[in-house]
Amino acid sequence: MLSIQLASLALIAVLTPAVSAETVLGAFIYHRHGDRTTKSYPPTKLTPLGYQEVYQSGGFYNSRYVSNTSSSQIYGISSVAVKNSQISVQAAVDDVLDDSAIGFLQGLYPPIGLAGAELLANGSTIEPPLGGYQLIPVNELASLASVANSGDATWLQGASGCQNAITDSNEYFFSQDFMDFSNKTASFYQSILPVINNTFTSATDIYKNAYAVWDLIQVSLIHNKTIQSSELLTPSTITQLQTLADHHEFALAYNASSPVRAISGMSLAGMILQQLNGTLTSTGPLLSIQFGEYASFLSFFGLASLPSVSANFTGIVDFASSMAFELVTNATVSGTTYPALSDISVRFMFSNGSAADAPFMPYPLFGQSSLEVPWNTFVNEMNNFAVTNQTAFCQLCGSASDGCSTTSTVATPSPTPTAATSVGGSGMSAAIGGVIGAMVTLAVILGVEAVVLLIGGLKVVKKSAGGSAVELGAVTGGKI
Ligand SMILES: *[C@@H]1O[C@H](CO)[C@@H](O)[C@H](O)[C@H]1NC(C)=O
Ligand SMILES: *[C@@H]1O[C@H](CO)[C@@H](O)[C@H](O)[C@H]1NC(C)=O
Ligand SMILES: *[C@@H]1O[C@H](CO)[C@@H](O)[C@H](O)[C@H]1NC(C)=O
Ligand SMILES: *[C@@H]1O[C@H](CO)[C@@H](O)[C@H](O)[C@H]1NC(C)=O
Ligand SMILES: *[C@@H]1O[C@H](CO)[C@@H](O)[C@H](O)[C@H]1NC(C)=O
Ligand SMILES: *[C@@H]1O[C@H](CO)[C@@H](O)[C@H](O)[C@H]1NC(C)=O
Ligand SMILES: *[C@@H]1O[C@H](CO)[C@@H](O)[C@H](O)[C@H]1NC(C)=O
Ligand SMILES: *[C@@H]1O[C@H](CO)[C@@H](O)[C@H](O)[C@H]1NC(C)=O
Ligand SMILES: *[C@@H]1O[C@H](CO)[C@@H](O)[C@H](O)[C@H]1NC(C)=O
Ligand SMILES: *[C@@H]1O[C@H](CO)[C@@H](O)[C@H](O)[C@H]1NC(C)=O
Ligand SMILES: *[C@@H]1O[C@H](CO)[C@@H](O)[C@H](O)[C@H]1NC(C)=O
Repeated sequence: MLSIQLASLALIAVLTPAVSAETVLGAFIYHRHGDRTTKSYPPTKLTPLGYQEVYQSGGFYNSRYVSNTSSSQIYGISSVAVKNSQISVQAAVDDVLDDSAIGFLQGLYPPIGLAGAELLANGSTIEPPLGGYQLIPVNELASLASVANSGDATWLQGASGCQNAITDSNEYFFSQDFMDFSNKTASFYQSILPVINNTFTSATDIYKNAYAVWDLIQVSLIHNKTIQSSELLTPSTITQLQTLADHHEFALAYNASSPVRAISGMSLAGMILQQLNGTLTSTGPLLSIQFGEYASFLSFFGLASLPSVSANFTGIVDFASSMAFELVTNATVSGTTYPALSDISVRFMFSNGSAADAPFMPYPLFGQSSLEVPWNTFVNEMNNFAVTNQTAFCQLCGSASDGCSTTSTVATPSPTPTAATSVGGSGMSAAIGGVIGAMVTLAVILGVEAVVLLIGGLKVVKKSAGGSAVELGAVTGGKI
């Protein structure tokens, strides 16, 4: 009897068609830069270690989304020679972010050797330099500072600082929480002054500078064999310095009772929606990668209820961390048409450090239990906080925000959905959609940059004993 049952089970197993494997249709990756020098001694640079971290992260994402041996290869993506219409890479104008993007891309689409060679009309074969190094454009998102320096104030006036967010973030420095933390950590910070007294004074070695202090010590721990008074840096002291910086930075990035504070996460959410929508409507790339500041991670984590999954999501992410939003389906995918939207979901993945080293794990978004969120639900949930156009940006940020009073009535064109969906993000509609998308993105980014930089303008700039400019202050320019 038993053997008959087993036999019939085996038969059923044979006759049942294999459950169709999951297909990844596209992805959006948001990435922090790799290891860098300290913010205390600008200009900050990507280190060889940081270069390696982002390069290896690129290699990880190659093995997940690009390689044709991966079960998660993005449907329709070119696996060896990059097709620039299929990927979009953006980084704010910042050397560390920009260099990180380039290093990442070297791993994402490695050199192709002679496959990249060209036969000229005269019969000569030209081999590309550097073993077939692939050139992939990184779109630099202009910062307010670069706009100001170049004297071109067009963008500055068109879409700049979020006045309400600036006011709101500053309120943190008058909050009870800030007072309490300043007060109860005052002696702790003074106790580690001998470690950092080349850079900080007793007046600046305080909770208000929690991030700057932690940054200097964290970078020193990685790079400096001879930190002065290093015996003071016990494991618990190090943890405390990090935890205080986490608390400080999360408070500035997100506060449930002050939505506008999370403007950087809201703008990021808008870009994620726009990019994934572009993939599904075949007006955009299959894979979008953006390099940005850690504050956007924290803002987004708060908005997406990730701290309810784990308090880890209130901590500053490690260098070279990345989060990915994958468009996934269990429906059979073939030809050039995507499955019905009702068959498509989004999965959130996060790696706390270079994805080549740190586990790349799924986490549930929006306080839900499932690791996959149906596309329509994802759009609705994201739209609870996403800022997708300048009108919304101005409404949130207030008409006092630069440019809003004059431009808030100008509607931003929304991407035109195309009737026929084809896979691969090529053709005319892609070009047009890309331009519109880029402009909307630029406008939104400039808004965020403006916030960051304007807040950064409040920083205290001190000269250290050695004469290097040291950026101190609760919010140092750029949360990178
Ligand atoms: C994967 O790509 C390699 C390199 O181009 C190629 O040789 C191989 O045939 C491809 N495999 C599949 C299953 O497409
Ligand atoms: C063919 O043209 C290339 C580029 O101008 C040149 O470098 C190469 O020497 C030419 N080859 C011959 C055989 O003339
Ligand atoms: C801490 O709080 C106490 C009591 O409220 C106050 O006397 C003291 O000045 C505060 N210290 C600092 C460093 O703010
Ligand atoms: C820093 O602290 C150490 C240890 O207390 C001391 O020897 C040194 O003189 C201090 N340096 C400065 C610049 O204050
Ligand atoms: C290491 O730290 C010491 C003292 O804190 C400092 O004098 C030295 O310049 C640092 N070295 C590097 C490579 O940063
Ligand atoms: C959030 O904002 C409220 C109101 O401004 C404030 O009372 C509270 O302390 C803030 N929380 C944090 C963690 O900053
Ligand atoms: C993409 O966005 C457009 C414009 O907002 C919208 O009409 C369309 O339904 C969206 N497509 C998907 C797949 O969500
Ligand atoms: C939180 O971080 C700790 C320490 O890194 C880790 O052990 C734990 O698994 C993390 N929790 C989640 C939910 O990621
Ligand atoms: C990432 O790691 C840092 C420790 O380096 C931790 O503080 C933070 O909570 C972690 N974040 C997540 C989401 O695990
Ligand atoms: C696809 O099917 C697997 C196995 O049943 C399931 O774990 C996964 O959640 C499904 N994925 C989606 C996107 O529904
Ligand atoms: C701008 O975004 C808001 C909020 O997401 C939305 O309600 C509005 O329809 C959008 N306006 C345009 C012109 O796209």
